[in-house]
Amino acid sequence: MPASRLVVLVSGSGTNLQALLDAIDAHPGGAEGFGAEVVAVGADRANIAGLERAEKAGIPTFVCPVKDYGSREEWDAALTEATDAHAPDLVVSAGFMKIVGKNFIDRFGGRFVNTHPALLPAFPGAHGVRDALAYGAKVTGCTVHFVDSGVDTGPIIAQGVVEIRDGEDEAALHERIKEVERQLLVDVVGRLARHGYRIEGRKVTIQ
Ligand code: GRF
Repeated sequence: MPASRLVVLVSGSGTNLQALLDAIDAHPGGAEGFGAEVVAVGADRANIAGLERAEKAGIPTFVCPVKDYGSREEWDAALTEATDAHAPDLVVSAGFMKIVGKNFIDRFGGRFVNTHPALLPAFPGAHGVRDALAYGAKVTGCTVHFVDSGVDTGPIIAQGVVEIRDGEDEAALHERIKEVERQLLVDVVGRLARHGYRIEGRKVTIQ
């Protein structure tokens, strides 16, 4: 079977993207053995490490900053077309810090995966790590899920648990979550691509 085509969306350091690239590279069977290849990397801003990582790996990139468009809808339409131009089987939001719109979800719903640094449905939104700490939670973690029209509300594919240490700050906790998150994302994307999957209501089954 040919490798699934992945478009990865990033906004920052891109260590989750790098984990995917490294896992595909390190697989004895290459992209075909892993089941997926990254065919393009998109971002909502220029000059970020995530884009540099893609360029270094020789992967095409595109950038769609919200401020370049007259409205959020126009931005969403442009992001949808830029992503679709690479004919993805799966789109992976790996630290992409924008909420996409209806157009994007209509096009890629059911094949758009996000990783979130908390145990959903607890602590959705842009500050999942900070919010878990502020709440006094004792465990948190990360969630890989399909994206629907809500904010971090789509069907859950897999989760990883991280214990919160006394006195730990947001940066230290986020770093420990990201260690788990990178492995989880690589594992999930590989399994989705190799085995196929079903989404029934909120339940995701990898076949
Ligand atoms: C991840 O923790 C992701 O869940 C979050 O931002 C982080 C991205 O990290 N929303 P990186 O850019 O992949 O290093």
